[in-house]
Amino acid sequence: MAAMRARAGLAARRGGEIVMKVEVSGEAPAAVRADAVALGRYAGDDRASADMRAIDQALGGLLGQALADQRFEGRVAELADVHTGDRLGVRRVVVVGLGPRGACTPEILRRAASAAARRARDLGARHLALPVLGDGAPRLAPGARAQAVTEGALLGLYTFDRYKARKDGDRALATLTVLAPAAGDRAAVRDGVRHAELAAEATALARDLINEPANTVTASALAETAREIAREAGLRVRLLDRDECERMGMGAFLGVNRGSTEPPWFIHLAYVPRRPARRRIALVGKGITFDSGGLDLKTAEGMERMKGDMSGAAAVLGVLKVLPRFGAPVEVHGLVAATDNMPSGSATKPGDVLRAMNGKTIEVNNTDAEGRLTLADAIAYARQEIKPDEVVDIATLTGACAIALGSLCAGVMSNDPGLQARVLAAGERAGERLWPLPLVDEYRDGLKSEVADLRNTGPRPGGAITAGIFIREFAGDTPWAHLDIAGAAFTDKDLPYAPKGGVGFGTRTLLAYVLAAAEARAARPGGRRRRR
Ligand code: BES
Ligand code: MN
Ligand code: ZN
Repeated sequence: MAAMRARAGLAARRGGEIVMKVEVSGEAPAAVRADAVALGRYAGDDRASADMRAIDQALGGLLGQALADQRFEGRVAELADVHTGDRLGVRRVVVVGLGPRGACTPEILRRAASAAARRARDLGARHLALPVLGDGAPRLAPGARAQAVTEGALLGLYTFDRYKARKDGDRALATLTVLAPAAGDRAAVRDGVRHAELAAEATALARDLINEPANTVTASALAETAREIAREAGLRVRLLDRDECERMGMGAFLGVNRGSTEPPWFIHLAYVPRRPARRRIALVGKGITFDSGGLDLKTAEGMERMKGDMSGAAAVLGVLKVLPRFGAPVEVHGLVAATDNMPSGSATKPGDVLRAMNGKTIEVNNTDAEGRLTLADAIAYARQEIKPDEVVDIATLTGACAIALGSLCAGVMSNDPGLQARVLAAGERAGERLWPLPLVDEYRDGLKSEVADLRNTGPRPGGAITAGIFIREFAGDTPWAHLDIAGAAFTDKDLPYAPKGGVGFGTRTLLAYVLAAAEARAARPGGRRRRR
């Protein structure tokens, strides 16, 4: 417990107070006072926007000249900037390309806003005025545009410098002023900005937890983070220690912890709305705080980023942290079976048989397929203790999925086409790429065991799918979807709005999915579906 207390503070530190203040203003870009103002420019529009013409005029044509000199085309996230020499309320104007007007999407606005905000920061600005970009783009309402630009800016400016002597914070924005369009629904703009702030806060917490090394983010630290989140956000929390997990019968989860000196923790957070809930959802995040592979030890190269093997848990904790502030009528449970996966004299050995909470026995033929063992018990727990309408799990589960879909796309598998469609739609709205993989029934044969009900790995081909089929065994008849984020969770190069490191992938997708479930009409007249 002392160790747990010493590690407190993960939830509050960063994700908690996005360092930046965000405000909404009705001022025009040419009139606003700030260090820098951003302007959008479509590709192929022969006439500049009214805002750009006003600013160019104030600068005596300097802006138009700079763009022409640079042969600025307006490609997505292309940048140009000019110093105003104090002829405006701002010192810098940053122009960002938006691509062709007719092709503009929220994702393009996220990328453009991120690029502009990063440039302003790198030029030393502390206060940035960012218009709601995407003016005049077809089918894009001001609220959605406001959300997209705010999300892009906040996510793009994220940094993790806790362990560096030279802080990135020396160059950081202090305030972001979102300039609402003159015409349009001001309330919708405010809602969009607020939504974006919460989505970015959730993602920043997820990124922090992923970027923190495994010697600080232990299972105890994740449990303590959950406790803090619960206290601050007003969630219910239940933390099960090893003995309680034992009594629950979580033999699969505990089998993964056998080789470790770090105690396991099973985390159960719950958001129960004041209004009657439309649906009851369980979100399950894989929470392996470090995956050495166990006795089936990984190679040095394979182990390198395995502090990120709790990225699914990070996304779930991020969502639960901000969810109460949406006040949505949906009941959401966040579950994480947290442990590391280590080799030692007491570790689970290939060939050992474990008994999961639902009574199924599992022959562990590969100790490196540990994630599915922890998910099995977490899903069994959800069904027994929560009886949710739907379960969605998110996990850095298989290298096979990363090989199949690369680093910019996650796999989705499900036993329920309707749920799968809603998860895919949520990913689309969030700008997180997801692709369905088929749960080919015949591949279940690959999980047959001579000694137990099933074994934990099948043949190498189709490894993402057999992992999905393994987990499906524990979902039973509960509608369930599984996100394999092994490829997308961690990035080796800067992305348009995620720096190198933990991406927080899936956080915004899960948030979008849960909020849409709150909106949807009840599955049946008379309220949510009950099952036993
Ligand atoms: N955590 C890994 C999956 C992973 C690999 C995540 C690469 C991120 C990047 C998982 O626990 C694992 O080791 N999976 C094995 C399964 C195999 C033994 C069937 C894999 O993919 O190699
Ligand atoms: Mn593994
Ligand atoms: Zn793993």
